[in-house]
Amino acid sequence: MDLSTNYLGKRLPHPLIVGAGPLGDDPDTVRALEDAGAAMIVLRSLYEEEVTQEQMSEFVNVEGFSDSFPEATSFAPESSLSLGPDEYLQHLRLIKDAVDIPVMASLNGMTRGGWLEYARLLEEAGADGLELHVYHAASDMTMSAADVERQAIDIVKEVKGSLHIPVAVKLAPLLTAFAHFAKSLDEVGADGLVLFTRFHRIDIDADELEVVRTLPLSDSSELPLRLRGTAALAGRIKASIAITGGVHTGLDVIKSTMAGAHGTQLVSALLRHGPDHLRTVRREIESWMREHEWESLNEMRGNMSLGRLPDPAAYERANFRMALR
Ligand SMILES: Cc1cc2nc3c(=O)[nH]c(=O)nc-3n(C[C@H](O)[C@H](O)[C@H](O)COP(=O)(O)O)c2cc1C
Repeated sequence: MDLSTNYLGKRLPHPLIVGAGPLGDDPDTVRALEDAGAAMIVLRSLYEEEVTQEQMSEFVNVEGFSDSFPEATSFAPESSLSLGPDEYLQHLRLIKDAVDIPVMASLNGMTRGGWLEYARLLEEAGADGLELHVYHAASDMTMSAADVERQAIDIVKEVKGSLHIPVAVKLAPLLTAFAHFAKSLDEVGADGLVLFTRFHRIDIDADELEVVRTLPLSDSSELPLRLRGTAALAGRIKASIAITGGVHTGLDVIKSTMAGAHGTQLVSALLRHGPDHLRTVRREIESWMREHEWESLNEMRGNMSLGRLPDPAAYERANFRMALR
């Protein structure tokens, strides 16, 4: 049975990738993930603010994540690793030395500027690829959708111009004209698109008058939004597509592949169950394929993408009308 895939120009034995986050913090954990069969790992992000020293990182330093989901603590480092720019480069070298699988670095930011030079340093430090997480605060009233997109496209263009390693762009789901934006990123040379980032859950503590931010682990119910985005792009762009968000089971990987994904990233599932869960997911994929008589993921990939379905509105509004009938 052939589970191989081609992601960012690299042939991987299967699509199971460890997504950006704390799983790449500790070399022993990374080795355990490699032993369990991870095809690739993405390290946590280095944030623009960390490079420019203005403020500390959203995910890592403002709040530890483990309080948000205590069940994850056994598989994640005791305390959140705080990596400044130089430490990040050292850490990347350490992880590269520890394993043979491709190691992607991750940069998160939204403005053009000196911090982008870090992309080149990450390449020099041995990163096999770069995941660029372009994030924009949606509460900014001074920038139009076109401005926001232009800024992200310019960043990707600039980074692509200075690197030889592949660059994947991790996108947020809340975009006005998602497919058009994705196509523009494709046209300026993004090697991959990663759909979609997950936001912190924001709530209000009405008694304490406080904004409460948590980052709970996902479950498979987050996957359909990603399937829809992937199905809209598959076969219509040159860039490879990875799904991040809600990939927990073998069936989630099968559905992602049918939508057209070349890679599937796991974070929550591995934080919850540990590195061995990769073996379980792989077994689930194989037994589903055996049962349904599929020989390879490549022949399945994109068979449920928008371009391959007879009804072009299958993922669209018509569906909603039908559901209400
Ligand atoms: C504790 C934690 C830390 C994370 N850190 C990062 C990060 O540094 N950079 C990033 O791009 N995504 C980060 N993410 C997001 C994940 O890479 C992933 O996109 C998201 O969790 C959805 O995947 P999942 O459903 O498999 O968890 C983090 C997620 C978690 C839970």
